[in-house]
Amino acid sequence: MSDAHKTSPSISDLQTPDLQSLGLRPLRASDLPFIERLDERVFGPGRFTRTAYRLREGIAPDFNLSFVAHVGTLLIGANMMTPVKCGDADLLLLGPLTVEPAFRSRGIGEALALKSLEAARNAGHGVVILVGDLPYYDRLGFKPAPMGKIALPGPVDPARLLYAELQPGTFAALKGKIGRAF
Ligand SMILES: CC(C)(COP(=O)(O)OP(=O)(O)OC[C@H]1O[C@@H](n2cnc3c(N)ncnc32)[C@H](O)[C@@H]1OP(=O)(O)O)[C@@H](O)C(=O)NCCC(=O)NCCS
Repeated sequence: MSDAHKTSPSISDLQTPDLQSLGLRPLRASDLPFIERLDERVFGPGRFTRTAYRLREGIAPDFNLSFVAHVGTLLIGANMMTPVKCGDADLLLLGPLTVEPAFRSRGIGEALALKSLEAARNAGHGVVILVGDLPYYDRLGFKPAPMGKIALPGPVDPARLLYAELQPGTFAALKGKIGRAF
C-alpha cells in the first residue's frame, strides 16, 4: 500500500477507530436528537409502544446520571437514567442503553451502565430498574424482580423486569406498580 493511500481516511478506518480516544461524559440536552436517531435505527418505530418508553415519555432524564460514549466528537453510545415512582418511593429506570453497532463488544455498553450506576449510588439512589435481558445485565448486578413484588403499567415479560439495589434494604421496602415520576 502506498503512503498516499494510507493517509486517506476510508470507511474501514472510521469503523475501526483508535479507541484510545474513547471517552464517557455526562449527557447534555443537545445530545438528545442523536440518541433519538440511534434508537430509531436500533429499536425502530416499535419503541414507542414499549412500556419502558411510556414511563420515560416527556420526562427529562437525569443529566447527572446519564452518560454518552464518544470517540472525539462522534457520539457512539448512550445510557439514560429516568426518575420513576413506586408508591412514594423514587426509583430510576435505566435505558435505553444503546451502542452503535460498529462499536459493540468492546465494553462500551457495560462502561456506560456502570458509570450511571456508580453516579446513582453516589447520589444516594436506592433502586434502579430496567426492562432487558438478564444474560446481559446480571454482570452489572441486576436480578429479576420477584413475581408480584413490583409491576410495570403495561405488558412486559416478567423475566425481563430487572432491578439493582444500590443501598441495602431499599428494594425490600418496595411494593406495587411502577409509575411515571410526574
Ligand atoms: C446491549 C448493548 C448496549 C451492548 O453494548 P456493547 O457495547 O456491545 O456491550 P459490551 O461490550 O459491554 O458487551 C458485549 C457483550 O454482551 C453481549 N450481549 C449483547 N446484548 C446481549 C443480550 N441482549 N443478552 C446477552 N448478551 C448480550 C454481546 O454478545 C457481547 O458478548 P461478547 O463480549 O462475548 O462479544 C448493544 O448490543 C446494543 O446497543 N444493543 C441494542 C440495544 C439494546 O438491546 N439495548 C439493551 C436494552 S435497553
